[in-house]
Amino acid sequence: MDKHCDVLILGTGLAGLFAAINIDPSHQVYLITKTRINNSNSLLAQGGIACEYNENKELHEAHIKDTMRAGAYLNDEKAVRYLVDKGFAAVKKLVSLNVNFDFDRENNFLFTREGGHSTRRVLHSGGDATGFNVIRDLKKALSTRKNIKIITNTMALDLIKKDNKIIGCIVLEQEAKYYSIYAKKTIIATGGIGSVYGSTTNDLNATGDGIGMAYRAGCEFQNMEFVQFHPTALYSEHIVSRQRFLISEAVRGEGAYLRNVEHERFMEKYDLERMELAPRDIVSQAIYREMYDTWTDHVYLDTTHLDPKFLEKRFPTISNFCRKQGYILGLDLIPVAPAEHFLCGGIKTDLSGKTNMDNLYAIGEVAYTGVHGANRLASNSLLECLVFSYSAAMDVNNTVDTVMEKNEVSINELPNYNYNYKPIRKKIGDYMDEHVSIVRNEQGLKLTKRTLEGIHDSLDKYPNLTKYYYETLNMVQTALLISSSALERKESIGCHLIIKQ
Ligand code: SIN
Repeated sequence: MDKHCDVLILGTGLAGLFAAINIDPSHQVYLITKTRINNSNSLLAQGGIACEYNENKELHEAHIKDTMRAGAYLNDEKAVRYLVDKGFAAVKKLVSLNVNFDFDRENNFLFTREGGHSTRRVLHSGGDATGFNVIRDLKKALSTRKNIKIITNTMALDLIKKDNKIIGCIVLEQEAKYYSIYAKKTIIATGGIGSVYGSTTNDLNATGDGIGMAYRAGCEFQNMEFVQFHPTALYSEHIVSRQRFLISEAVRGEGAYLRNVEHERFMEKYDLERMELAPRDIVSQAIYREMYDTWTDHVYLDTTHLDPKFLEKRFPTISNFCRKQGYILGLDLIPVAPAEHFLCGGIKTDLSGKTNMDNLYAIGEVAYTGVHGANRLASNSLLECLVFSYSAAMDVNNTVDTVMEKNEVSINELPNYNYNYKPIRKKIGDYMDEHVSIVRNEQGLKLTKRTLEGIHDSLDKYPNLTKYYYETLNMVQTALLISSSALERKESIGCHLIIKQ
């Protein structure tokens, strides 16, 4: 394989794939994933894509307003306007690639509602299989592109830097081959950070790899303290995996209630106007409070007033999974609890996905574009992937050099040895769960930061050329950025709820 390409994309979730497909076919693109395309948070997305699929200015304004309100007005309004106004064209582009959304008998798209939205504007596919279907259809579209090479089981370890310019990445293939790939443009699209916490709705491969490597290369970050917890991950004492099954907010969008273990519908105490459809930060914090007051670790999602047949058809993925756990939608109360879901901050970029390093872009969850503020509005994440990966691809097309500089930078020899990083990872998750989760206090944040610094120093001292070492290093660097930013943010706002001890 030629170790030089025009565009190197790290990550194969929606952002990475959509960027690749929009790069001009005259450019050679390498798309790298540390596992397979089928491991990504995009693939797990159920609810849908929030989009005003029209040119109606009033409806666009309402989407902007809902996004700003959910984000506690810490959003960058320019970025929010860009997201909403470019959203229609970006989703149209997806549709033109034969990605199918659900529609009614008259062939009109079906839209659902989720928390924080004032109207039904969330497009979905396969009922609750939006991410799965979008990635499946994009993969088909991608397979016809001769200029795109997909490299699987290859982990991006570190960016290669020359002055302030990124010229590629050092990768580890199949835990065995260690080499550099040089690129005129590099795009980080590595997704989320769920594994930094003890329980998450994310794919467990989400170890903050893009955050770690960007940090080591000198990228700027913003809003790292805003970690969103999804209110309704399925709760079960029997499931041991740290990955928790998501029950889409769209179930509440279709009318489900939340009840505490005493069967009281409690959201009126927290947001009388929007009740179960308040934004996620409010609902997760309310559930946390109810669990605390009732000495339990879950509440219930109540669909018993809804038609079981409708629920089964509308939410096939959720119905199947719940049935396997012994719960039938429409008949049983479903135990749920919050779990880590989404990082609202990240690598700072402009509206074209450009970072502060030359020739380096960041798109998707790993990026901070300014659209989410202190708390992301439901289903704005897939829209953000589409809009900003498209603008990054356009910027690449307009600025990529015609001539490839033949770079060859020597890379350090690193030791390689067998070491079990599981206890360190568990310790990171335990501290983040205890002190840097839905509710935080200064003392806990300081203790966590000190502990993480200790872990970081020992990892730094004993490098090891393995995927597990780099993942653990990325996890601790991500956790450190989150806790340090949380310590700096003194007031409670959005996802950051700080209490006095
Ligand atoms: C959901 O379906 O509830 C998750 C969608 C999102 O993360 O916005």
